[in-house]
Amino acid sequence: MNQYALDSIKLAKNYGNTQALKEVTFSIKKGEIFSLLGRNGAGKTTFVRIATGQLMPTSGKLSVAGYDIIKEVEKVRENIAVVPQEARVIRSSSACEFIQLYLLMRGNVGIENTRTIALNALKKIGLEHKANISARQLSGGERHKMLLACAIASDASVLFLDEPSIGLDVHSRRKLWEILLKLKSEGKTIVLTTHYLDEAEFLSDRIAVINKGVVCKIGSPSAIIKDSGFELRVDIDESDIEKLTIPKGVKVNKLADKVRVLGEEKIVKKIVSQALSKKLKVSVAGPNLEDAFLNLVGAENEQQN
Ligand SMILES: Nc1ncnc2c1ncn2[C@@H]1O[C@H](COP(=O)(O)OP(=O)(O)O)[C@@H](O)[C@H]1O
Ligand SMILES: [Mg+2]
Repeated sequence: MNQYALDSIKLAKNYGNTQALKEVTFSIKKGEIFSLLGRNGAGKTTFVRIATGQLMPTSGKLSVAGYDIIKEVEKVRENIAVVPQEARVIRSSSACEFIQLYLLMRGNVGIENTRTIALNALKKIGLEHKANISARQLSGGERHKMLLACAIASDASVLFLDEPSIGLDVHSRRKLWEILLKLKSEGKTIVLTTHYLDEAEFLSDRIAVINKGVVCKIGSPSAIIKDSGFELRVDIDESDIEKLTIPKGVKVNKLADKVRVLGEEKIVKKIVSQALSKKLKVSVAGPNLEDAFLNLVGAENEQQN
């Protein structure tokens, strides 16, 4: 086995005339939390589906947990767990039974141990009080937690979570973060897609930004922020912006009724002092991953789907 949990070389996928992935090349190291970020339609789910043996690539090579995704797909499946973006659950089974079935189908846990492991996973995600309730009676968020509990209960070395925070309330989302960090500390590799950039910034060791099927940036959150060239940002009320002289060389983004100006520290500071001298309200902060991400993929391009 090599040192990578995932190694993608010129991976491409076409759906008819749609090129969903174009020669995607990157690797994920064992034990990393790695996030795939991109707008709707960027190709994230396509990548996850290929990496988890649900979809054949058009060309290129991909190995997961050291096994070739085409030639050794059974081995890949033994070593991974997936929480898909859209998943159906067996509604007549209880949350606990569903996880027990999942463990039995994976085949490496004895039947006598499945209930304990399932209950433990439900406890970790905060759903133990609904363990014996049929999935039909669970809310959408709770059913989603049930799927997350399957991945938590598995002994897989590489976990794929496609938008795992969708539908989770703030508390559950924080709980999920804790669980993912714990799984990482146990040596697992976690591949994540998310639209929550705060989540990606907090959790990820590294990130790949995908834009229209192409990896346009790869690195740690702090490296991606640094590479954006933004050192400081200031938010100003939109109605105040015409009272200020905005120098060249800054990025100006509209944010609801505010305008965010990003750029080098010395230039942004000049705008701040102008605003303060006119007694305007400002909010100053360092740039975050969302600022860098919008700069990479464009804030105003039309969405693909
Ligand atoms: N089964 C499919 N058939 C045809 N086109 C598809 C299919 N699945 C996805 N696509 C297209 O491939 C592109 C990438 O989709 P997807 O991988 O789902 O993106 P993401 O998960 O980043 O939102 C989109 O343009 C989408 O419309
Ligand atoms: Mg998707």
